[in-house]
Amino acid sequence: MRTKPRVFVARLIPEKALRIIEEYCDTEVWTDELPPPRTVLLEKAASVDGLLTLLTDKVDSELLSGAPRLRVVSNMAVGYDNVDVTEATRRGVLVTNTPGVLTETTADLAFALLLAAARRVVEGDSCTRSGKWKTWGPMTLLGQDVHDATLGLIGLGRIGWEMAKRAKGFSMRVIYYDVQRRPDLELEAGLEYADFDTVLREADFVSVHAPLSEDTYHLMGEREFALMKSTAVFVNSSRGPIVNQKALYKALSSGRIFAAGIDVTDPEPIAADDPLLTLNNIVITPHIASASVATRTKMAVLAAENLVAALSGGRPKYLVNPEVLAH
Ligand code: GLV
Repeated sequence: MRTKPRVFVARLIPEKALRIIEEYCDTEVWTDELPPPRTVLLEKAASVDGLLTLLTDKVDSELLSGAPRLRVVSNMAVGYDNVDVTEATRRGVLVTNTPGVLTETTADLAFALLLAAARRVVEGDSCTRSGKWKTWGPMTLLGQDVHDATLGLIGLGRIGWEMAKRAKGFSMRVIYYDVQRRPDLELEAGLEYADFDTVLREADFVSVHAPLSEDTYHLMGEREFALMKSTAVFVNSSRGPIVNQKALYKALSSGRIFAAGIDVTDPEPIAADDPLLTLNNIVITPHIASASVATRTKMAVLAAENLVAALSGGRPKYLVNPEVLAH
């Protein structure tokens, strides 16, 4: 009888996805709410053929060097900065991710953060609940208009593009910076390309949609916030370390920029004593941009399919390091 490949699934994922894995693999699932502790992850990795990981699970050279059977790391996320892809590739381990299925859901939340920060939705809700709502005040909780404003996108990948489409529904002018210019999209939706500093200077809303890498680490720091308008709103739904959080605090607390809406922090979760938590002009959600029932199911199914495809000798749909198969 054929022995099934062994896999470790690092968190409880939707049933539909688990069934796909269990049919083909001898499966162990980590069912705690919190990620497996490092020692557990290392121990499990040491004896499996496949791992299904989340962005909370660090797959680095220590883990890879202690995992002689490992053939695939299926990351249930579009971002894979938690995985040392160079090391995985060197060791012939396939790395897969889940792009596409979470694009619109992520842009929906980024736009929700933009609206919430601009129009002080969370502050307004607290005002109501705390009994501070005394009357209709002509000067109460004044925010920034979204319609007809300029959205500046840092990154025009799939999610950036969806953000641009949403902005067009609010009659916004959209300018963008990306290392790769997209004349086709500029034409399709009337987007304007500008260099990084110009986007920061001209935008009323700056939203980041870039992967975390050595090039984007602390991309937004003191210099960059200083370039922004004092009425501007900053939005980040990509990765926390793209922003120098101390510089963001300084920009918000000094009134250098108007407000921010962020779904990602550095570290995650944000430290309980982080000064950002003392500010009213920031909305912080706990990395939930892709967290809709439908999208999380699609991500899990795609991660399961990627995992099984790799273990059965096929080509996973979304392979980060195709060069492994070329050898
Ligand atoms: C979430 O942040 C993801 O990368 O999918």
